[in-house]
Amino acid sequence: MPTRIPSAKIYLDHAATTPVDPRAAALMQSLGNEKFANPNSSYLLGQESRRAVEDARRKISKILNCAPGELIFMGGGTEADNLAIKGFAYSNQDRGRHIITSTIEHHAVLRTCQYLERRGFTVTYLSVDSTGLVDAHDVKKALRPDTILVSIMHANNEIGTVQPIAEIGALLAETEVYFHTDAVQTVGHLPVDVQKLNVDLLSFSAHKFYGPKGVGGLYMRRGTVIDPLIHGGGQEHDLRSGTENVAGIAGMGLALEIASEFLEEEATRLSRWRDRLIKEILQRIEGARLTGHPTERLPGTVSFCFENVDGESIILKLDLEGICASTGAACHAGEISPSHVLLALGLEPTLANGSLRLTLGRTNSASDLDCVLEILPKAIQNLRAMSAAH
Ligand SMILES: Cc1ncc(COP(=O)(O)O)c(C=O)c1O
Repeated sequence: MPTRIPSAKIYLDHAATTPVDPRAAALMQSLGNEKFANPNSSYLLGQESRRAVEDARRKISKILNCAPGELIFMGGGTEADNLAIKGFAYSNQDRGRHIITSTIEHHAVLRTCQYLERRGFTVTYLSVDSTGLVDAHDVKKALRPDTILVSIMHANNEIGTVQPIAEIGALLAETEVYFHTDAVQTVGHLPVDVQKLNVDLLSFSAHKFYGPKGVGGLYMRRGTVIDPLIHGGGQEHDLRSGTENVAGIAGMGLALEIASEFLEEEATRLSRWRDRLIKEILQRIEGARLTGHPTERLPGTVSFCFENVDGESIILKLDLEGICASTGAACHAGEISPSHVLLALGLEPTLANGSLRLTLGRTNSASDLDCVLEILPKAIQNLRAMSAAH
């Protein structure tokens, strides 16, 4: 079921975003053009929009194994993480003001936690091992009488390591502490069942599973009390006011339904390609270090650090060859700063600056792998030769 991209490019950045599935795009277009009414209006046209929103809620709740009423739709993964953590912290602060998270979370979680620290909350940032794994025993050891929430991501967006969420969930189920997981990288790619994972709050985002950008949601176990961050017309159980993004929500529902139908088949194919890329990159490129867990990793995620070369230069070089990829290193005002995730694995900053992430998905074919395996070693050799000459 290949999804076409609009040029001859080889797109290897599916963890950053995915193209919208054509079937979801067609549904969204029809909802935008014909069934455009406000879902909060009581006339027939409004009811049709409401039906589109509620259909999506039913589809998604079936896939995540929760009740439709336990889903709140909103504007993406960042918003869901903010609502889960800030909303929960504000409404439960009478019980305690301590939160546990990890050092390798997405900034949507980390910066939300840092914001709460400035407002009197205490946050424990658990370290990870050299493969990026959080140890469930460390979560247990960090619990305090005033701990109200643990937030650990399901899979990391930079290195693909998948955390033992079910193990942590089982451990926390015996306590009064609530459990949030940022599942933005796993929903639509790995089986995600909120009952099996034993989570109370779970964030997801449509554009990571071939749905539209700017729409996502939060699963909230019944009985969980959170404060809204956005006040207004009282939509989404008064937890996310504002007229619903009807087309976006419907597109998300259909995209997730399609992704779930082909989940196993796609995960098997991508894992095979992933393992081939990892093996051959290690063989063909000197000074290559795999980052993340060797087996507990997302099906499509290949991530490396290369000695004596910087990630941004690799990205630019690959771009010239028509390959879209990404690096964890960020360039701010001419200075390269290594990713917090790679530093948390214990990598030296200079090695962490040489990071490359290739994330496979539906736009790829087996021949893309051959191209990358031909181009990447040459690109790195070239860049190293250039920097040695300087
Ligand atoms: C793990 C993780 N959490 C949160 C987000 C933010 O999601 P969104 O882009 O929908 O705001 C991302 C996106 O890259 C992500 O990978």
